[in-house]
This record gives sequence, C-alpha cells and structure tokens, in this order.
Amino acid sequence: MQLTVSRDAENLQKALLELAQAGRRVALVPTMGALHAGHMSLIRLGLELADAVVVSIFVNPKQFGPNEDFARYPRMLEADLRKVEEAGAAVAYAPSVEDLYPQGFDSSVSAGELGRILEGASRPGHFDGVATVVTKLLLRTLPHIAIFGEKDYQQLCVIRRVVADLDIPVEIIGAPTLRAPDGLAMSSRNGYLSSEERQLAPKLYETLTHVGSAISKNELPVAKALAAGVAQLTSLGYKVDYLELRDEDSLQPIERFKDSARLLVAAKLGNTRLIDNIVILSS
Ligand code: PAF
Repeated sequence: MQLTVSRDAENLQKALLELAQAGRRVALVPTMGALHAGHMSLIRLGLELADAVVVSIFVNPKQFGPNEDFARYPRMLEADLRKVEEAGAAVAYAPSVEDLYPQGFDSSVSAGELGRILEGASRPGHFDGVATVVTKLLLRTLPHIAIFGEKDYQQLCVIRRVVADLDIPVEIIGAPTLRAPDGLAMSSRNGYLSSEERQLAPKLYETLTHVGSAISKNELPVAKALAAGVAQLTSLGYKVDYLELRDEDSLQPIERFKDSARLLVAAKLGNTRLIDNIVILSS
C-alpha cells in the first residue's frame, strides 16, 4: 500500500475518507517519531488486527515539563516516513504544532488521579499533556483500534481510563515491550545514553526480573524485595525514582502479592531517565 503523508487535519480527513469508503478497519499508532523496532512492532500488530494503519508522528509540547527534553527530543521525519512506508502503513499524519493546537487553543484533558502518581509525581502535568493529545488524535482519526506499547505502562492505563470515562469509541490495545537482545527496553531516549551508560542500562531490566521472581516465588516480603532492588540499582550508579509493585489496572500499591501485579521502575542513569515495567504472575 502506498503511504499517504498528511501534514494537517484537512488532508488527514481526505485520507481517512478513502479508507472508510474502501471499508477498511483502521488502527492508529500514535508516536512521537524517532521510530525504532518497538514502533515497527506496533505497526505490525496494527496490520494484524486491522486492514490499514495510520501512524501519527508528533512531538507533543504539552507533555514535556519546562526542564525536560522537548527541544532536544530526536526529530527525523524523512527517515521516519521511510520506515512507516516500509512497514506497510497506509497514512502518516505528521501535523505541525499549529495544526493540533491552533491559536487560542485553551482546553486540556485531565488524566485525573492516575496521572498524578508514579511518573506523574515526578513529571507534573505530563499525563494531562498525553491525555490531551491522545484524545485529539483519537477524535481526529476515529480509528477502530489504537495501539500503545506496554513500555509506557502508566500511559496505557491513563489512556484506557480517559477513553472509558469520555466514551471515546475506540478499542485500546496494549502491545508487549520490545527489548534489545541484552534486555534493554527499546526507547527513542536510549540514544541519549553514553556508551558506558548503555552497558549499564540492561541492569534495569535484570533487576526488575530478579525482584519480580523473588516476589512471585514468595522468597521475600514485597517491601524487602523492592528495597533490595533499589539498593542493587543504587550500587550500580542509578538514581532510583521509584521501584513499586502496583495493581495492574488502578496502579494502587500492593503490599502483599497474590496472583498478578505490575512491577514498575524509573531511574536516572547520568542525565537520562529510564522507565521499564514487567508483569508479575504467581509461580
Ligand atoms: O508514547 C508516546 O510516544 C507519546 O506519549 C504519545 C502516546 C504518542 C502521545 O504523544
């Protein structure tokens, strides 16, 4: 399928109309560009679950705090469009800031309490920015399904909540995290890591799996397993923001593990903040 590139809402509507007239089931894959193998796996999943994939590419200023990396976030539109085309997507929607947030734009979607814990506690306003842009992208595209990586697990929970609360008619699909062979979760921000930091980075996932295994086998009480994980990462040079066992849907803390939970971590390696998570099932 030849890729249609839409740079504004009007062109997007034309491309979507053609897909609708052809009776296509549409999957939306929202991205901020700098596409890597993880994004490609989301597009592949879209093509398995739908007939046509729309990929949005937009570095959303509203989800970056004043001291965050909005200005230096990698932007490589030409290379991204080639990848999207090779992956078989039907439409790439790469709007300008003015197209999504025209002069006078003054509303926002609140991510509520879910948006204020964990990542939201360290990055105030981040999830309101995500909820606002994702709501706009969903309403502009009105896809049958929209696919988000589990790498940003809290983001996935926030989006599910917003979509349910606001009756947005779309099915949200979570896709498994794609990892480098050494375990590091794929992320556009991995490019910020120095070669030394890149060598240490897989320890984040390794620690998650050790802590997760101690919890699922009941080898240690949850609090002790988490404290051991924090100590391990700190000794390796990480600055741990949180390492927490949480309910899979509400993301509320779990003190005693029963059948399933999410183990989530955020830690800084040098100047780069890494996040990761795994599901824990009883063994
Ligand atoms: O995960 C991302 O890349 C972004 O947060 C998203 C969902 C595209 C919204 O800007």
